[in-house]
Amino acid sequence: MTRDGPGPSPLVLIVDDVAALAEQYAYDLRRLGPFDAITAADGAAALELITAEPVDCVILDLELPGTDGFDVLRELERRHIRTPVIVYTGTGSYDRCAQAIRLGARGFIDKAEPMERVAQEIRTTLERERLVREVAALAREAGRDSPLIGSSAAMHTLRAAIARLAPIPAPVLIVGESGSGKELVARELHRLAPDPRGPFLAVNCAALPHELIESELFGHERGAFTGAVTLRKGAFEAAAGGTLLLDEIGELPAAAQAKLLRVLEQREVTRLGGNRTVAVSARVVAATNRDLDAEVVAGRFREDLLYRLNAHVLRVPPLRERLSDVPELAQHLVVTTSARFRTRPRRLSPAALECLMSYEWSHNNVRELRNVVERMLIACDGEEIGAADVPADIRDGGAASRVAAGNPPRTFHERRAEAERQIVRAALERNDWHVTRTAAELGLADHASLHKIMRRHGIRRPEQ
Ligand SMILES: Nc1ncnc2c1ncn2[C@@H]1O[C@H](COP(=O)(O)OP(=O)(O)OP(=O)(O)O)[C@@H](O)[C@H]1O
Ligand SMILES: [Mg+2]
Repeated sequence: MTRDGPGPSPLVLIVDDVAALAEQYAYDLRRLGPFDAITAADGAAALELITAEPVDCVILDLELPGTDGFDVLRELERRHIRTPVIVYTGTGSYDRCAQAIRLGARGFIDKAEPMERVAQEIRTTLERERLVREVAALAREAGRDSPLIGSSAAMHTLRAAIARLAPIPAPVLIVGESGSGKELVARELHRLAPDPRGPFLAVNCAALPHELIESELFGHERGAFTGAVTLRKGAFEAAAGGTLLLDEIGELPAAAQAKLLRVLEQREVTRLGGNRTVAVSARVVAATNRDLDAEVVAGRFREDLLYRLNAHVLRVPPLRERLSDVPELAQHLVVTTSARFRTRPRRLSPAALECLMSYEWSHNNVRELRNVVERMLIACDGEEIGAADVPADIRDGGAASRVAAGNPPRTFHERRAEAERQIVRAALERNDWHVTRTAAELGLADHASLHKIMRRHGIRRPEQ
């Protein structure tokens, strides 16, 4: 389960090995708040709670037995968890506090300070977090940081559909091949939601063992089953006020499908082993690379659940249906990957781009392109990524798919035909497969001439 953004009410976690002290802090903070407060006695328990509960702020003792405060900070950094941490210490050592700040702590307080000061420090930290998120949301909205790359007609259509669906609370089903960008589309739906400051939570239905999935989604009461030693909120509760992505929904076991259907119909959840109901305020988005209609026919997916989910469907087109996006995507991936590798970005030569554009990308779509860009950046010594830096399987793969199509472009004529095919395809994509408009853009006499060229090259509009 991944989580970003706060829950509806600030939840503070106090980590101290002296239980009485932690409880006193929790008591005072609830009183001074408005805060919710929970406690943990050591670093390991703290890390578990931070991932399991919608913790908004952590008060962390630096001196802990075993996993100490510094270890907790390092682990949060390693897992990219941004929950703000305020460290507190009884030793009054400035050096240790400075070290904690370097490890990512947002502030520090002395155990001797009055509780009002502590509450104020938490409020300031939460407010700063809120502002950081708001600025990020505004920057994205201003289009400076739009996560979905691609100017093909297919991507324009997809973006328009996302913008139409984002404000309404009904479930959305995102379908598309592996690595085509389904999760990114779900995040875009969240980003454009009426309140993007709510949490975005993704649960991968395929990654969890069957016996855990229901408690992950719906939560459990203390003692609901062996091992349920504490109460646990499920994903529906943790995503309150935000977006819940049910990834790989096609893999959901039958019993969980039945429960999910009830939750969607009644808009409320009951934790396992309990009878209290909690209203669901999360926007539910499901994603799959399976053909759910076929799954229904095969008896593996409930038809009534599919009807609940597929009133609004977003189809993410595979990369081979929008090859004109490849240059822009590849360039973007070069820049982001170089930044991640801390190397300077390199140019992509036209020859390298041509190789990338003649490949089918059928295995893993944009994810495969991302991996190829990584390999090219590592292989390339010079300023420009050339055709020689393109992995051989991609170059040969492109050639192989042309051979499979009965058209290996070896001679001049064949290569010219291949280029023509690419130009026409890209123009059609730009014009949303409108033949007359494309013919005009290409300066052809009329739509009949374009039809003739399309027939010659076997170009057909992909199915919607
Ligand atoms: N249009 C796009 N613009 C920029 N990056 C993209 C785009 N589409 C996909 N990506 C990147 O490609 C990778 C795969 O995308 P994502 O995880 O969203 O795919 P997915 O459809 O959810 O895959 P899977 O079926 O394997 O879960 C991610 O790194 C994502 O950032
Ligand atoms: Mg995914």
